[in-house]
Amino acid sequence: MRRKLVVGNWKMNGSKTKNKSLLEDVVAGVRDLHNADYVVCVPYPYLGQAQSLLQGTNVAWGAQNLCATEDGALTGAVSPDMLVDYGCTHVIIGHSERRIQFHETDDTAATRFNVALKAGLTPIFCMGESREERESDWTEYVVGRQLDSIIRRFGADFLAKAVLAYEPLWAVGTGKPATPEQAQEVHSFIRGRIARCNAEVAENVRILYGGSVQPANASALFAMPDIDGGLVGRCSLDAKAFVDICKAACQHPMTA
Ligand code: 13P
Repeated sequence: MRRKLVVGNWKMNGSKTKNKSLLEDVVAGVRDLHNADYVVCVPYPYLGQAQSLLQGTNVAWGAQNLCATEDGALTGAVSPDMLVDYGCTHVIIGHSERRIQFHETDDTAATRFNVALKAGLTPIFCMGESREERESDWTEYVVGRQLDSIIRRFGADFLAKAVLAYEPLWAVGTGKPATPEQAQEVHSFIRGRIARCNAEVAENVRILYGGSVQPANASALFAMPDIDGGLVGRCSLDAKAFVDICKAACQHPMTA
């Protein structure tokens, strides 16, 4: 049985003033929603603020990336232990915006995935194809390659303590999500590929869908058998929208 999980990815948004009211409203909104799990991934400078406003609540917090090295001369980088120091439980790894705009590769994403796990963080590992790749029928090739970057190097067992996210690039930030059927097809492919290596891990790993998740489409997406929740960008910046998505997750509390 897999519990639903809703993760907010704030990306590079926020200010101390806005964050305070957003987090307070989210906390108040999900306080009595006991059937799912909630996480917000905030920009690094706001981790301390997230910690002080969220500790003791049912909303966990995390970061959007980390550096694969423990410490040392790496200007501008943030280590896994620093995230742990701020009470983070989760970290997003391999988001398409980082792969494209910061030239991250399957290999560096896999390295950071491993380092996150070693530090006791739950990596939220993102995969997804571009519009051109989908139109060329390459979706399974691309998503499979991204997934294999972890499995080949570390084995499928490593996925047991992770969360996976399917985020088709053509749906991210466009307001045009994948249909529940399109998303389900890829989620089922991901789970099936893991099952070839380790059936138990495949059965238990949570696979989130990300890409224009909104209150209006969340319930239909979360009703799909292999969609275990959402990775939410824009709507995580609006407390009411985010809470409504969390409520949709609670309508379909368990998958499988
Ligand atoms: P949107 O919900 O804004 O499409 O962003 C999705 C995303 O990239 C979450 O990581």
